[in-house]
Parts: sequence; structure tokens; C-alpha cells
Amino acid sequence: MASHKLLLLPGDGIGPEVMAEVKKLIAWMNAHKMGSFETEEGLVGGSCYDAHKVSITDATMEKAASADAVIFGSVGGPKWDGVPYEVRPEAGLLRLRKELQLYANLRPAVTYPALADASSLKRELVEGLDIMILRELTGGVYFGEPKTITDLGNGQKRAVDTQVYDTYEIERISRVAFELARKRRNKVTSMEKRNVMKSGVLWNEVVTDLHKREYKDVQLEHMLADAGGMQLVRNPKQFDVIVTDNLFGDMLSDVAAMLTGSLGMLASASLGEVNPKTKTRKSLYEPVHGSAPDIAGKGLANPIAMIASFAMALRYSFGMIKEADMIEKAIAATLDKGIRTADIAGKGDKTVGTTQMGDAIIAEMETLAG
Ligand code: IPM
Ligand code: MN
Repeated sequence: MASHKLLLLPGDGIGPEVMAEVKKLIAWMNAHKMGSFETEEGLVGGSCYDAHKVSITDATMEKAASADAVIFGSVGGPKWDGVPYEVRPEAGLLRLRKELQLYANLRPAVTYPALADASSLKRELVEGLDIMILRELTGGVYFGEPKTITDLGNGQKRAVDTQVYDTYEIERISRVAFELARKRRNKVTSMEKRNVMKSGVLWNEVVTDLHKREYKDVQLEHMLADAGGMQLVRNPKQFDVIVTDNLFGDMLSDVAAMLTGSLGMLASASLGEVNPKTKTRKSLYEPVHGSAPDIAGKGLANPIAMIASFAMALRYSFGMIKEADMIEKAIAATLDKGIRTADIAGKGDKTVGTTQMGDAIIAEMETLAG
């Protein structure tokens, strides 16, 4: 059995707590010969800043580059609000994304049947929801230069961020969108602001051209990003794959998360280009939720997004489709039994903590493994 090398980066806040549940799951899978995983751990974010005065070290970057997949928790928290911008906790995550060239961020928003009532939207709007937000992750305003604050000398300062996209960046993310759609319900909705932004004009043009050239069989629709946000909460089931830029994708995926009941439910995969020689790709898997400093250290966090992110690693990095399906089934079965962390509990529901949720999911794995 080929062994898979994982770099675990738990990070800050609830990151280490939810990562502990993935570690349990990995140990369980190793013990049951369901894959063979070797893990190493590293520091990222504020916890790395405390130890090394940077948000990720070069040594950890090297380990990330040579791992078969990086499993990432979360970074940030009020403790590091005052640290220099260049070494703020989030910079470690952004460096990983940029240097590993993880340009395609898949954020599936799936509403588990048992949770349709946990959403802030009506049950009939979200029941059976299964959409994919595909976010461009290495370009746009997150990385565009100049990115500055200048003192104008008259008591005023000027802040500049730069939104920049080249044709190739838009084309490669659009290609991922069309390929994903072909394996789903064959529809892509592209979201930008071509009515205000030049990058939106080019985005629209490049998606349209690629569609005409290579993907005529896929249904393509364009939507302005603001209208798209509105449609996501008005009638989310109209979508299949939504492809959008880095900043809009950040916002729209948080919106989509609430359709599934909680930010604690949304997993994500960040993927690079497939290496034609090795047929493998750089990858990082992380929950969409942040470090939740308000509940950190209390054992209350929902580990499902983290565990589901690990399932995405099996699916997208290791081709372990059966095992990935099994984890997702175990999550669904746990929820069907009414087991809830506080973030997905209804009025009067009994709630469990992080470790109990992790244990319950592993117990379902036992059952499914027979
Ligand atoms: C996300 C997060 C990050 C982002 C932060 C932590 C830098 O919000 O992954 O959605 O803005 O991309
Ligand atoms: Mn975000």
C-alpha cells in the first residue's frame, strides 16, 4: 500500500482542537489498513509567530512543498492583533497558497438532511442543497501590487490595494470549473463585476471564450457578483458550480456556509496544477471557518468541517473515493442520530463537545467498515 505523507498544520484558536479529531481518524484508518498515512506537524500563524517571529518558517514551507498533502486548521486571534502586517497569522496561510501555487479553491456547500433546519434559511430552500463554490486563490486583490498605505502629509493617508488578473489565471480556474461541472450537473455560473471593474470585463471575456472553444456542452451563465450573493440566499439550488475571483469567493463562500447550517460544516480543498510526470498535484485542505477565538480551548468547536476537509484530501489527492465517501456517510449518520455541537443545535437539543463529535463519527466508521 502506497504511503501518504501528510503535513499537519493545526494553527491557532480551535485549529488544534479540530485537528486532534482528524489525528484520531488517521490513527483509526491506519489501524484498519484503510490507507497508510505518515504525519508530521508544524507551526503556522500566531503560534509560529510566538516561537519564531514569523507566521511560517522556511523549513515548514519546505516540508509543505514535499508533503503529499497539507492539512491545515485555522490561524489568527486577538492576541496577534498588534503584530506587524507582514508577519500577521494570516500571512502564513497566504504564503502557503501563493508559493505552492494552489490556485483552485473548492468549497462545496452541501446541506446534510438532518441539518436543513439548522440553516438560517427555510428548510425547503436548502434541503438537498449541493453546490460548489470555486474560488480563484492565488491572484486578485489578495496579492496584487501595489499594496500600500502612504502618508499624504496633510493629516491624510491613502490606502491602495490592487486587483489584477491575467488571462492565464482566469482561464485555468475556468477550466477547473467546467471540468467539475461535467462530473456534476453540468452548469457553471461565473460571477464578477464587469459593470465596474476592468478585471471583471476580462474575467467575463476569458470565461466566455474558453467555453466557446472547449466546453460548449456545459451550460454557462454569467451573474454580477452582488446579484449572485442575493441569489445565493434567495434560491441557492439554482446553482451547480460557481466560479469567481479571490475576494468575491471569500465572501460568497461564507454566505454559502450558512446555507448548510453553520460555518463549522464547510470543508475546502486548495489545489495546484497536476504535474504531468507524477500525475500528482500540490494540495492543502482546510475548513472554511476561522480560529473562533471566542470558543477556543473550551472543547466546543465543531470538528466536522475539518474532518470533511480530510475526506476531500482522500478524494482529490489520493483517489481514495470509497474511503472519502465513507467518512461523509459517517458524518451524515452521526447527524441523523441527533448528535450536535452547539453551532448546529436546535432549540432544546442536547449538545456534545469536539471530542465526542469526533468519537461519534469514528464509531459510525466502525459500523460502516462492518
Ligand atoms: C478563508 C479565510 C482567509 C481568506 C483568511 C484567514 C486569510 O477567510 O480562507 O476564507 O481571507 O482567504
Ligand atoms: Mn474567508
